[in-house]
Amino acid sequence: MTIAFLNGAFIALEDAKISPMDRGFLFGDGIYEVIPSYGGRLVGLHLHLARLESGLRDIGIETSWGRAELTNIFQDLLTRNGAGNLGIYLQITRGVTMTRQHAFPAQPTPTIFAYTFEIPQPVPGDPSKVTHWQVATAQDMRWQRCHIKSTSLLGNVLHMMDGVNSGAGETLLFDDCDQLTEAAACNVFVVKGETVSTPPLDRHKLAGVTRDMALVILREHSEFTVREEHLSRDAVFDADEVWLSSSTKELEPIVSIDGQSVGNGAPGPIWSRAQTLFDEHRFDHFE
Ligand SMILES: Cc1ncc(COP(=O)(O)O)c(C=O)c1O
Repeated sequence: MTIAFLNGAFIALEDAKISPMDRGFLFGDGIYEVIPSYGGRLVGLHLHLARLESGLRDIGIETSWGRAELTNIFQDLLTRNGAGNLGIYLQITRGVTMTRQHAFPAQPTPTIFAYTFEIPQPVPGDPSKVTHWQVATAQDMRWQRCHIKSTSLLGNVLHMMDGVNSGAGETLLFDDCDQLTEAAACNVFVVKGETVSTPPLDRHKLAGVTRDMALVILREHSEFTVREEHLSRDAVFDADEVWLSSSTKELEPIVSIDGQSVGNGAPGPIWSRAQTLFDEHRFDHFE
């Protein structure tokens, strides 16, 4: 039985109930985080909490749940759920109002909800132990505030379905100028020669914690040139390697895009080295 946390109480996930008048339900008016943990150790905790705070600030939700309290809730949830390999899903919405109106209510009481779910044991860069991603591409049709980790994810959901409907597992997104932004639920890295690149952060991408950690780890420990730079559609299709990054995937290789092989159609050596380094250093500075 999964134990969840809802508005101050630990309860069975199946007993967790919220009002249909919650603004998270009515408007997608909330912020979320997904934080991985292995054997009870949270990965990238302070980066996740910093992004949560920045998202709440961006959309004007004030909450009394501070960093120390949230950390205690997470630790408690991990212990209550067996402290294996668990992702924590946390969502804070603007709360319940009895009239449906777009404008913020005067004195909202935010709703806070968290639960855990099992995630796979992460592995070093071994091609035989990882998903070989086949992805599609689409024009990025989401809104202008993709840097906010908002629960309003319909744009991302529809883009994920662009990929799924064409037999792929993810979708790489390109802006109106054909520059890579990110994927429906991941950031993207591109390798050409000995250079590892990812698009620079702006309003069109989520500042992925895994992206951030990978940049730090590769800059500190690898021999590769690491760049944040704009990447055209041609650069992506011409790459030797392309990877996805997210908290529950870490770095995973893409082997085909729109049916066209990436490099020789197998996970590349630079991905293998990068994920091996990530596996060695995921707890350095980031807990
Ligand atoms: C749109 C999008 N971009 C990037 C990411 C990767 O972020 P993180 O590495 O913090 O999991 C996610 C993760 O859910 C996402 O939904």
